[in-house]
Amino acid sequence: MGSELIYRGHETQPTADAYSPKPIKPWFSVARGVHYLLREQRLVFVLIGMAIATLVFTVVPSSPTTASIHNYKTYDSVSGLAELGELTGSSQVARRVVYGGGIGGVNSGGKVPLGLKRKGLRIVVTGGAGFVGSHLVDRLIRRGDSVIVVDNFFTGRKENVMHHFANPRFELIRHDVVEPLLLEVDQIYHLACPASPVHYKFNPVKTIISFQLFYKTNVVGTLNMLGLAKRVGARFLLTSTSEVYGDPLQHPQVETYWGNVNPIGVRSCYDEGKRTAETLTMDYHRGANVEVRIARIFNTYGPRMCIDDGRVVSNFVAQALRKEPLTVYGDGKQTRSFQYVSDLVEGLIRLMEGEHVGPFNLGNPGEFTMLELAQVVKETIDPNAKIEFKPNTEDDPHKRKPDISKAKEQLGWEPTVPLRKGLPLMVSDFRQRIFGDHKDVPVSDVSSSA
Ligand SMILES: NC(=O)c1ccc[n+]([C@@H]2O[C@H](COP(=O)([O-])OP(=O)(O)OC[C@H]3O[C@@H](n4cnc5c(N)ncnc54)[C@H](O)[C@@H]3O)[C@@H](O)[C@H]2O)c1
Repeated sequence: MGSELIYRGHETQPTADAYSPKPIKPWFSVARGVHYLLREQRLVFVLIGMAIATLVFTVVPSSPTTASIHNYKTYDSVSGLAELGELTGSSQVARRVVYGGGIGGVNSGGKVPLGLKRKGLRIVVTGGAGFVGSHLVDRLIRRGDSVIVVDNFFTGRKENVMHHFANPRFELIRHDVVEPLLLEVDQIYHLACPASPVHYKFNPVKTIISFQLFYKTNVVGTLNMLGLAKRVGARFLLTSTSEVYGDPLQHPQVETYWGNVNPIGVRSCYDEGKRTAETLTMDYHRGANVEVRIARIFNTYGPRMCIDDGRVVSNFVAQALRKEPLTVYGDGKQTRSFQYVSDLVEGLIRLMEGEHVGPFNLGNPGEFTMLELAQVVKETIDPNAKIEFKPNTEDDPHKRKPDISKAKEQLGWEPTVPLRKGLPLMVSDFRQRIFGDHKDVPVSDVSSSA
């Protein structure tokens, strides 16, 4: 090294006062570079470095950007869904990695070179003690993130997340999102919302209270969480709903459809609340540069659903297990699509980690009439179950079916669990919760003990 410096010192130096074009380097300067490389085994070190780099880039597979067909296994602590599945590349998300740090680095997916451990994120899940939230928390904890659940237990239950209590990466805060909250986090999954208006609509006093709750949670609660995202530079995901399409005039529903919502109907506190939440989310994105994601969730079912929340799947399952007639509102020809919860969680995580704002429809495009659903429930639980018809509720949508082309194309996501496979997993959870210790009692014996 020293000799190099001394040599350069003897070169002709340009003078400050006169401009002279750079002299053309003589050939011997190239030869000098080669000579330099060959001396003191420098070439050997260069070649070793190149070999190591080649090895690393060859062994680490490149991450795919679009969906590919994989045989994947999603382990679900409650449902035991490890046995299910062979469809889209859902497992890719689990392998994708997100690094902590600033917003850009934190939220973009990437690969971990061999031997390096993925750095966990700090994530808030509002409504994390609820049905969907608790399954999402399971997945995030399992992949190594630190999770803070914020929940006021309005419809959620501590039991849904109790299995994480001993985990130092898990925290539970009883808090109403209508009140502001400051937490240092990388990502916010905003699920908090009293999700089932049906529950309260037969009690006028509770109805008024619940309307206020719906609207306040969706508007004030969402504003608070967006404010938090802005302050700490976190990425924010809103769980909106297919209800934003109202009673749709377009079928199936595409994200570009603006919907057909009655703004003054009994359901509007939920529908309009979520529509406003979407508006606020986009305003924070455009106006305050918050990184946001919007998911429009279609009917989802699975273990840990509220048993008597008035949603059609939980209604039918609970009624069939209790040997009560299945209540069908209207003529039962209205259609819905039913998505198993692990599929939804996969979609939410892909959306959060991906590059697209959305909105994205997340639902199972398989379409069932209420009577067909009742039939599947009968086949699964009790073939002798009776059906009871009741007048339909106001503004009940006639048809609901997601067009998921956008999610397939941009998130590489599609559902993998058909209703006939998912329903039995939910039924065993309901049976356990309804009949307590009698979880292993066959259905035919249950009636005598119920
Ligand atoms: N499950 C579905 O079929 C479905 C369909 C469309 C949209 N969604 C949306 O997904 C999200 C989760 O739904 P879910 O089915 O798990 O419902 P859920 O009722 O089981 O969960 C909602 C959770 O939010 C909590 N919560 C309610 N208000 C709160 C408040 N003000 N502050 C803090 N916590 C509050 C509840 O206690 C509960 O734990 C909701 O935003 C819902 O609108 C669900």
